[in-house]
Amino acid sequence: MNSTITRAFNFNAGPSALPLEVLEKAQQELINYNNAGMSIMEMSHRSKDYDEVHNEAIARLRSLYTIPENYEVLFLQGGASLQFTMVPMNFLKEDQTASYVLTGSWSEKALKEALLFGKTAEAASTKENKYRNIPTLNEIRFNQSDAYVHITSNNTIYGTQWKEFPTTGEVPLVADMSSDILSKPVDISKFGIIYAGAQKNLGPSGVTVVIIRKDLLEKANKNIPTMLKYSTHADSNSLYNTPPTFGIYMLGEVLKWVEAQGGLEGIAKNNEEKAKLIYDVIDQSNGFYRGHAETSSRSLMNITFRVTDEELEKQFLIEAKEAGFVGLNGHRSVGGCRASTYNAVPVEACQALANFMIEFQKKHQ
Ligand SMILES: Cc1ncc(COP(=O)(O)O)c(C=O)c1O
Repeated sequence: MNSTITRAFNFNAGPSALPLEVLEKAQQELINYNNAGMSIMEMSHRSKDYDEVHNEAIARLRSLYTIPENYEVLFLQGGASLQFTMVPMNFLKEDQTASYVLTGSWSEKALKEALLFGKTAEAASTKENKYRNIPTLNEIRFNQSDAYVHITSNNTIYGTQWKEFPTTGEVPLVADMSSDILSKPVDISKFGIIYAGAQKNLGPSGVTVVIIRKDLLEKANKNIPTMLKYSTHADSNSLYNTPPTFGIYMLGEVLKWVEAQGGLEGIAKNNEEKAKLIYDVIDQSNGFYRGHAETSSRSLMNITFRVTDEELEKQFLIEAKEAGFVGLNGHRSVGGCRASTYNAVPVEACQALANFMIEFQKKHQ
């Protein structure tokens, strides 16, 4: 690691911190990848060098999550937002209903797109509680005839996260995992489809990872545009058209880094430790800091909180910025403060923020 580089305490919600080791490796390889005399960005997506990068990234993701054989791993574009459209476009049939669990703004956006394609239902919603919690599993309602049940595994804006996932039997469970993919082990076999924009835990923006059960591909609606069919991309190993090659290369390097952290178990342990440092300060502040999420629904990725009064909160954000902390403003739609502690945010940054919060309280209480 190059110790002369000053790195910000980066708590951005996405795009967000990438591992320094990965950035340094990319920097080294930028001009001359594998002695090709060019960067990975400058070579054909049909070349041998790129082919290896592409297939290795798929293989590493499969291995980290122990993805069963009957699932495809796809690299698409258009962000998670295009998945809001592609899921119902492919899987919501005219005579069916898709059920959505509403746990925040991103679930609302996903539902809004489904309304363009067919019938929808709310499987549960925590909107009345200002999205402070995830519904309990027995609050979730759906029918066995539903096209699918959709959830958002981590709510980036409100700072809540599912701790266990519903069992939906024959009905495919679809999860937007954009903001907690790769943060902990997950039993992939519970899901029909998992999708995630890369720009939080996976790499730079521009790649969207989709993990989809193969039998669903055959059942998908046929009369839809080629590029928006999952089967188009599954049939061509995500090389139907030019994929975001640099993003996929970076994803592959991030996956190697995750392996070096002890895989998903190791990463999960780090993430718990990091989030605890900050939640402990909130809990021990006698109400000076107030967490938005109910304790049992707290996210280990996005820690949302308020400072005791509005003026002090503004001051907190100003002083935090001066002290070198980046990205602590809450999402523009809800205000407050948010620390995103994704995989690549080092424990030292979380410790520094915890210390800063304690000092700020002492000074201003
Ligand atoms: C949970 C979640 N879903 C979807 C999105 C939208 O992702 P994209 O910008 O990749 O379309 C975001 C973006 O922050 C998100 O956090």
